[in-house]
Amino acid sequence: MTNSLRVRLLWWLLVPLAIYVFVTGKAAYDNARHTADLVQENTLLASARMIAGEVEWSDGRLLVDIPPAALEVFASPQGDQVFYNVSVDDGRLLAGVPDFPTREMSARHDAPVYYDADLHGKPIRAVGIVRQMYDTGAIRRVLVSVGKTQASRDAMLRELWRPQLVRQIEMVLLAVALTCIGLTFELRPLLKVKEEVMDRDPMQLEPLRVERLHTELRPIVEAINQCIARLGLQVAAQRRFIADAAHQLRTPLTLLETQLQFARQHREMEPTLSEALAAMQRSNRSMVGLTNKLLLLAQAEAADYTQLARQKVDLASIAQAVIEDLAMFAQKRDIDLGAELVESAWIIGHEGLLSALVFNVVENAIRYTQPGGHVTVGVARDAQRVTLTVTDDGPGIPAEARSRVFEPFYRASSDTEGTGLGLAIAKEIVQAHRGEIALKHREPPKRGVIVTATFFDGLM
Ligand SMILES: Nc1ncnc2c1ncn2[C@@H]1O[C@H](COP(=O)(O)OP(=O)(O)O)[C@@H](O)[C@H]1O
Ligand SMILES: [Mg+2]
Repeated sequence: MTNSLRVRLLWWLLVPLAIYVFVTGKAAYDNARHTADLVQENTLLASARMIAGEVEWSDGRLLVDIPPAALEVFASPQGDQVFYNVSVDDGRLLAGVPDFPTREMSARHDAPVYYDADLHGKPIRAVGIVRQMYDTGAIRRVLVSVGKTQASRDAMLRELWRPQLVRQIEMVLLAVALTCIGLTFELRPLLKVKEEVMDRDPMQLEPLRVERLHTELRPIVEAINQCIARLGLQVAAQRRFIADAAHQLRTPLTLLETQLQFARQHREMEPTLSEALAAMQRSNRSMVGLTNKLLLLAQAEAADYTQLARQKVDLASIAQAVIEDLAMFAQKRDIDLGAELVESAWIIGHEGLLSALVFNVVENAIRYTQPGGHVTVGVARDAQRVTLTVTDDGPGIPAEARSRVFEPFYRASSDTEGTGLGLAIAKEIVQAHRGEIALKHREPPKRGVIVTATFFDGLM
């Protein structure tokens, strides 16, 4: 059986209800048939009695005059055919159809006898009664039989039985409809929970709300919440571990850098050794770079909006400082680094993190744009937002890589140095500030990428 709650509940409802409807329907049918038969038999008997009452002696012979009322009792819209037969025990027919299927009546017993028979190929219900006629010295038994076709009786049966059946089927359908509607309504809170879970950011580890849930569902959601809480502790522990590890790595790496520098100053050194030392220094520097980025990523991931240093910072002056820091790098790569900054753009946030954000995005633009290219850093402001845009006219990012560049360690170009952490850090920082970051390509014929970070907490 399917696992749908709706279908299962319907089965629970439909099977017993169908049995119930069948059993009560059968009882109702039997009842109705009994009633219809009774009514029909009473009419037959009344008619037979009326006819029997008209049998009389006349000059020593039995005669009968059929009263119209005896046949009128059968009047019905169904137009049943009525037959009768009045005959004496000596075989003489007093009235009616000669081939009427009469019944042998016992001599002593003169209670009416009801029976089914066939006349002219039609099934009929008939009654037979006997009237004893006395005359001087003679006793004659007159058998009066009346029969009719079944149309009005069947119609009555239908009328008695069908409405009940229809009502019961209506009730079942109503129950089904109400179950479906009720379930749809009652399942809504559950679907809400589902949507809430689906819409979540993977790292959003807040508990689900339980207030509007049914008591039956609360334990499930509470169990999920406990699970989320444990997961949250786990994630926090892991982030702390990465941050601690990166932090611990920095000291020996810095030390190593100094030692390498010192060693290289040694005069009488073999050229090969000097080369080896230079290579060691390069890889040590990239280790320092990686460690710093890891530490920054861990810090950005751990940063929570409510816990961010709640200070006002000016994104425009942060951008200005970053541009100054990167001016040399841009010059080295022959990139025209320009700025379009508003005078001030205050937001609530963490200065160090925001500075790292601008640095990473601008550095990318300079690094990946060909010599002679242009990079523009813009900070704009309106009533609700402060927007940082970094535009370049470089080669852009291949389509298949676009959705992945924000992932940690993902790099779309392998010919330059890098860690693949820059945009991941940028994204974490923007999210920690409840902002949005997006990467767009410029419309052809223009080339290059526009990275936009929007913050909604704009302060005038
Ligand atoms: N302005 C840009 N133009 C072209 N490609 C870019 C740009 N910014 C980022 N990318 C691509 O996105 C990838 C990921 O960037 P990032 O996370 O900063 O890592 P990294 O710079 O260390 O490689 C880069 O490897 C690069 O291929
Ligand atoms: Mg980068």
